[in-house]
Amino acid sequence: MDPALELVDLTKRFGDKTAVEGLSLTLEPGAFLGLLGRNGAGKSTTLKMVTGLLKPTSGRIRVLGLDLEANPLAVKRQIGAMPEDMALLDMLTGPQYLRFVGRMYGMPDALIDGRREELFDKLDLAVAPKLLLTDYSFGMKKKVALCAALIHGPRMVFLDEPFEGIDPVTSRTIKDILHSLQQSGVTLVLTSHILEVVEKLCPLIAILDEGRLKGFGPIDDLKRGDESLEQLFVDLVGGAQKGELSWL
Ligand SMILES: Nc1ncnc2c1ncn2[C@@H]1O[C@H](COP(=O)(O)OP(=O)(O)OP(=O)(O)O)[C@@H](O)[C@H]1O
Ligand SMILES: [Mg+2]
Repeated sequence: MDPALELVDLTKRFGDKTAVEGLSLTLEPGAFLGLLGRNGAGKSTTLKMVTGLLKPTSGRIRVLGLDLEANPLAVKRQIGAMPEDMALLDMLTGPQYLRFVGRMYGMPDALIDGRREELFDKLDLAVAPKLLLTDYSFGMKKKVALCAALIHGPRMVFLDEPFEGIDPVTSRTIKDILHSLQQSGVTLVLTSHILEVVEKLCPLIAILDEGRLKGFGPIDDLKRGDESLEQLFVDLVGGAQKGELSWL
């Protein structure tokens, strides 16, 4: 079987700044990868490249056995993505937005509405029917973006910080949903700074530091003995401890 994701020497430069440098990794179908790294490490840039939102400077991306550059639409049909800026259409209501997204995937309205109702119910997204997305709270927008990434039943899902700004009860629901997706054979990649969530959900991790891959593999293989994921992270990318603020 083809790998679900194959990155070969993936590089992205913005002018003088190299955001991602020579990133190579392979994910088997059904894998669940947690992509970690400090602010600015290149996580979002990587996700934008593999979901076709950003063109790499060089390197190769294969998703579900297809070369992304040669088959952008065939890839996009089969993946779900929640980018960092969510990119919702603010002047639509939540249900209208999901109709729009579902129709882009060629889904019939009844199927879209049925799945949307189930997702909204699970995620406690009960909102006034006429409320526009622009008036949703941050966490509510995030939940709508998650619904949009899942509504068409993708074979592979990329989520950029799905737990950021999400309340603890909903976090638990999202963890359950992601776990069920993995159980049903969907391949998942998420970024998060919440190491305990990553440790619980993702059997595989990749740690980026200044655009370079510092560690990749099963969490348990990367950790030494009883070491925590936090300690591993700090060992691999950690800067020196800073002193106290001079004015305190
Ligand atoms: N459009 C852009 N133009 C110039 N530089 C960019 C652009 N997008 C990202 N960068 C730079 O690339 C680097 C990686 O950014 P990226 O958003 O991928 O980091 P990240 O790992 O997602 O960080 P965070 O944890 O803060 O979300 C940063 O130095 C950032 O300033
Ligand atoms: Mg980011």
